[in-house]
Amino acid sequence: MHIVITALALSLVLSVAGATAATAAETASDAVDTAPQESTFLHGGDPARGAEMAKLCISCHGHQGRSVTSRYPSLAGMDETRIVEGMKSLRAGEKGHMMANMTRGLSDQDIADLAAYFSSLDP
Ligand code: HEC
Repeated sequence: MHIVITALALSLVLSVAGATAATAAETASDAVDTAPQESTFLHGGDPARGAEMAKLCISCHGHQGRSVTSRYPSLAGMDETRIVEGMKSLRAGEKGHMMANMTRGLSDQDIADLAAYFSSLDP
């Protein structure tokens, strides 16, 4: 009998501890989930670095971000925030697969730099 009570008490303690650990883990993963959104790279990218990387985009979006075909949007003068958000959603695979491949290897900082560059160009 004594052993049963001890076992019950022990399992109670363990389950409380388990619940606390689970809550802590949830809180931690919440923090991780929200971190990328909180870090606002939206503005303040480095346009010079963006200009270097922009070579990757010429084949589709044209020189100086001026597309020569309606299949690809012109990026020159496009709103910086829209470029960042557009690229991030394309990177997440939400739209065209071409840009999903294109953006897969880019960091948030790369995207911010590219956005700073293209948004600074005359349309
Ligand atoms: C292989 C061709 C290709 C390359 C290379 C490419 N893109 Fe794209 N891009 C596309 C296509 C196609 C779309 C339209 C996707 C859609 O809306 O379905 C697009 C869309 C975009 C958009 C969204 C525009 C909007 O209207 O919101 C941005 C921003 C963008 N590209 C930036 C870039 C940048 C910056 C680079 C270079 C790092 C790049 N792309 C390289 C094909 C390409």
